[in-house]
Amino acid sequence: TQRKRIVAGNWKMNGSLELINQFAETIKTDLYPNVEVIFFPPSPLLSAMAGKGFNTGAQTVSEHDAGAFTGEVEAKLVRELGCKYTLIGHSERRTLFAESDAVLVKKFAKAQQVGLTPILCVGETESQRDADATEQTIATQLNAIIDKLGVACLQNSVIAYEPVWAIGTGKTATPEQAQSVHKFIRDLIASKDAQIAATLPILYGGSVNDSNSELLFAQPDIDGGLIGGASLKPDAFSTICASAV
Ligand code: G3H
Repeated sequence: TQRKRIVAGNWKMNGSLELINQFAETIKTDLYPNVEVIFFPPSPLLSAMAGKGFNTGAQTVSEHDAGAFTGEVEAKLVRELGCKYTLIGHSERRTLFAESDAVLVKKFAKAQQVGLTPILCVGETESQRDADATEQTIATQLNAIIDKLGVACLQNSVIAYEPVWAIGTGKTATPEQAQSVHKFIRDLIASKDAQIAATLPILYGGSVNDSNSELLFAQPDIDGGLIGGASLKPDAFSTICASAV
């Protein structure tokens, strides 16, 4: 396809200067032609990581401009540190930090305003899947952004589909299950703008590892992955990157 292939490693609240050095020795991004490899380390590690020549992004940014917001990270500063991306609405942010769709709309807009490409995370919980509400859940999460900002905002963005039941559980969606939701996402967007839908990278996340990535990435609407646990292991992560080529 003409779509960009992306492998993104979300370190969550893990990692260290030492781990960056290990990755710098193992991951040579020119080994993966046409794959954009992006690291999402904890914010204090962003400049060290960018200094090693890696593409980087923040795991979240504040919806506010600079000011009295103790502990928050300003999007503009993240951009100044050389990052090109930020995650928006990772399920851990939605659940553990109570980030609502309304707040995520503001974060998404703020990211684009300062020149960061948002990677919007969507996905259903296990009980939503069991209740046959997967598509409804994802449509609500996507439409929250589209209704407020307009479909054109997706032009410069990436979507990550992460079923919550597959995150950190070792229970990956099958390639068929993932493909079916990716196609649903692409069709939903195509109904509003076919050209944007055709070029939008949609990543799969949730217990991706070095033995299941190849089949997942071979699906027609899966353009790469958002990797958690396996992104902390240089060898496994490099195998995953190679499987996206
Ligand atoms: O952002 C990454 C995802 O939450 C997936 O995490 O690969 O550890 O399941 P995981």
